[in-house]
Amino acid sequence: MFKSILRPIIRQNNNNYYSSLLILRQLSSSSSSSSSSSGQSSPNRIDNVLVIGSGLMGSGIAQSCATSGKFQSITLYDVNDKQLGIAKKSIAKSIEKLYAKGKVDIESVDSAVNSITFSNRTDPKSTDNLLIVEAVPELLDVKQKIFANLYDQFKDNPTVIYATNTSSLAVKDIGLSVPVKDRYAGLHFFNPVPLMKLVEIVKLVDTSDQTVESLRQFVADIGKVSVQCRDTPGFIVNRLLIPYSSEAVKMMERGDASVEDIDTAMKLGAGYPMGPFELMDMTGIDTGKFVRDAWLARNDPSLNIASSELVDKMVADGRLGRKTGKGWYDYSK
Ligand code: 3HC
Repeated sequence: MFKSILRPIIRQNNNNYYSSLLILRQLSSSSSSSSSSSGQSSPNRIDNVLVIGSGLMGSGIAQSCATSGKFQSITLYDVNDKQLGIAKKSIAKSIEKLYAKGKVDIESVDSAVNSITFSNRTDPKSTDNLLIVEAVPELLDVKQKIFANLYDQFKDNPTVIYATNTSSLAVKDIGLSVPVKDRYAGLHFFNPVPLMKLVEIVKLVDTSDQTVESLRQFVADIGKVSVQCRDTPGFIVNRLLIPYSSEAVKMMERGDASVEDIDTAMKLGAGYPMGPFELMDMTGIDTGKFVRDAWLARNDPSLNIASSELVDKMVADGRLGRKTGKGWYDYSK
């Protein structure tokens, strides 16, 4: 029984792993040359953005940059051309929706989409005042190697800021291979990125005030609001949200109330825009499990979290929420 549950999890994690390994291989073979600063732009302003990983979060980050119209270049990098194609389509669809509702101030949908370079190379048009945001699956060794390769590529450029969008790992651990600690931080976005206004800036002990200021300005430039926090599990939002989701699952497993009633209760009784199960379906059951497992591995009793065989089985069965058509709810009809 356990074996049959675990096998697909391993397979799925392997998929992520292999895709990330491919990203690594590409990064290693990318040109190690990089432009150095021209010194023309204000040191606090990000002019160019390179997003690593074109999944849900990476696409949303690139999209938010594109609709702001504030940057000289935006590059969305992925090793997987098919995934880049999917990202381009979903970005276009999302911008179309927002444009039709008058929620973005852009010349046209095409111009916004075309302001992003979808590339399988980490070679932005310009690297002056470049912000690199890593948004690949939550695998520590893979993220560390990605940063090692990126640092190797851009080490001669003192205007590059390195940031990770991790939600479950320690920002410090991911950045072990980035020697320029003053230019390294966490930059945590929320799902769906084009709609969610918040970005958490995770300042490490060695992150410089200038870097934090650049990130604050960047977040403002893309029309979002930043908050600052330390490198602690879950930062601010997930530290509260993950135990809340976990409690909802436990409540349902005990048979205290149904999925639908818990969601209705939290929407109408607490004023949340979505119930906990709807939210888990939107962010991805697998993403929630990644965070939960990473917390459990920390063995920290202050992290109020419990494992759930049911959630593990859902992930094993590919019931990951909206993105696979089924999660707590069925979206296939
Ligand atoms: N781009 C464009 N439109 C989108 C979209 C996207 N990416 N995602 C959803 N929409 C659209 C829907 O299609 C729908 O459009 P329609 O009405 O034309 O069909 C519309 O947005 C949804 O409209 P609603 O009236 O249902 O809801 P609101 O517009 O008021 O808000 C919401 C939608 C912002 C998603 C709101 O429900 C919300 O705030 N939900 C909670 C989200 C949340 O808590 N996110 C944080 C998760 S934790 C996280 O991300 C951390 C990470 O580490 C895991």
